[in-house]
Amino acid sequence: MSYDLIVIGAGPGGYVCAIRAAQLGLKVACVEGRETLGGTCLNVGCIPSKALLHATHQLHEAEHNFGAMGLTGAKPKVDWKKMLGYKADVIGQNTKGIEFLFKKNKVDWIKGWASIPAPGKVQVGEQSYETKNIVIASGSESSPLNGVEVDESTIVTSTGALELGKIPKKLIVIGAGVIGLEMGSVYARLGAEVTVVEYLDRIIPGNDGEVAKTFQRMLSKQGMNFILGAAVQSATATKGKAKVTYRLRKDDSEHTLDADTVLLATGRRPFTDGLGLDALGVEMTGRGQIATDKQYKTSVDGVFAIGDAIEGPMLAHKAEDEGMAVAEILAGQAGHVNYGVIPGVIYTWPEVASVGETEESLKEAGRAYKVGKFSFMGNGRAKANFAGDGFVKLLADKDTDRILGAHIIGPYAGDLIHEVCVAMEFGAAAEDLARTCHAHPTYSEAVREAALACGDGAIHA
Ligand code: NAI
Repeated sequence: MSYDLIVIGAGPGGYVCAIRAAQLGLKVACVEGRETLGGTCLNVGCIPSKALLHATHQLHEAEHNFGAMGLTGAKPKVDWKKMLGYKADVIGQNTKGIEFLFKKNKVDWIKGWASIPAPGKVQVGEQSYETKNIVIASGSESSPLNGVEVDESTIVTSTGALELGKIPKKLIVIGAGVIGLEMGSVYARLGAEVTVVEYLDRIIPGNDGEVAKTFQRMLSKQGMNFILGAAVQSATATKGKAKVTYRLRKDDSEHTLDADTVLLATGRRPFTDGLGLDALGVEMTGRGQIATDKQYKTSVDGVFAIGDAIEGPMLAHKAEDEGMAVAEILAGQAGHVNYGVIPGVIYTWPEVASVGETEESLKEAGRAYKVGKFSFMGNGRAKANFAGDGFVKLLADKDTDRILGAHIIGPYAGDLIHEVCVAMEFGAAAEDLARTCHAHPTYSEAVREAALACGDGAIHA
């Protein structure tokens, strides 16, 4: 059997690439070894975690804010099995949705694990396929940490954390990054005593420092504990109980914590096992990523790579955009990804969202910038909805007023960030946002107020 394109991996990078290439007239197949399409994101990542975050946010609202709005009655009880069932339904709807899209767009799903014996050839089990081009979209896996013995029941990665047998009384999270804080939030809302142990002296490295401080304060208020500047040495499980040892970096003292469950969330690494890249002669970076040029070409002709398997932020939407770009390139068009405008979102409550430069990165580059900041306390809608904690921070060039970045901590920050993304894509100035009429009362007025604060000042501050 022969194709124009075989995509390896049906995560957000791979399935989007396959669909776009088929839409552009190529004969396409996508190889996926999991039982269902959608990759890590749909099966054991973005989507299931959002289902659990949604359910537990509702619980949090019922416990903390319903009374104040005159909604009284018995506190909801948590039926963990049923909550996991709801999560499984959400996954099922989404993975079946991709199967439908494959059929609609005439993308063949080749079931199994692929290897590339030679350029233009893909092997899946006993079957070999000929293809003009190959796109590797094989994604990533949790990075191991020395001394931490993952068994996916007591000591888990994000995969096991989405499927725990019961809600732990005590949960230790190793790493205060996105996974640690999202899943930590889920279990804190479900009543677990959650302690996050982080190597650095701050949480969510790479994000705006002021946002990180505010975020830590809010999560602490929600009951999460933080031990910062602590390097985890080991985590071991005996008879369903776990022990974590860490060293405080400031004085090298060693400490031990006990828990029912430990979540290892110290990053992910590219997953390229079994593809045969070594024998094929595909160049890798020093960090185990597939090396590509700006058009996603690897060192081997006709073999391309995208998503978590190559360099750049490990984000589903970055992979999707690269998938579309490479499909367009293979169809003779000019595919392109603007890496300066890739939003990042943490789906806790409140949400944290960012795009573009941070104050830290601008200072490091020695660029002159101005800051427009607006607190959600000045936003009527947020106050009405118990969501006044948090702010929007817009960064603009001091001379030209061009928007350079935005950092939002507050209600639906993950949605609000996109008006700034669009503005940045169009090279807008803060004044352009400030002069755009925003409906009242909406959370997005806070974004406009931050833009106003870059100029003559916000109105409601
Ligand atoms: P991360 O890179 O976001 O955070 C890992 C944290 O672990 C860092 O703060 C690091 O300093 C800390 N750490 C490393 N070694 C340590 C040690 N020995 N002891 C204590 N702390 C240590 O990684 P995470 O959260 O595992 O996420 C992996 C990837 O998945 C990221 O690239 C993330 O962007 C992506 N992801 C994105 C989501 C989203 O967009 N909402 C959701 C989940 C994952």
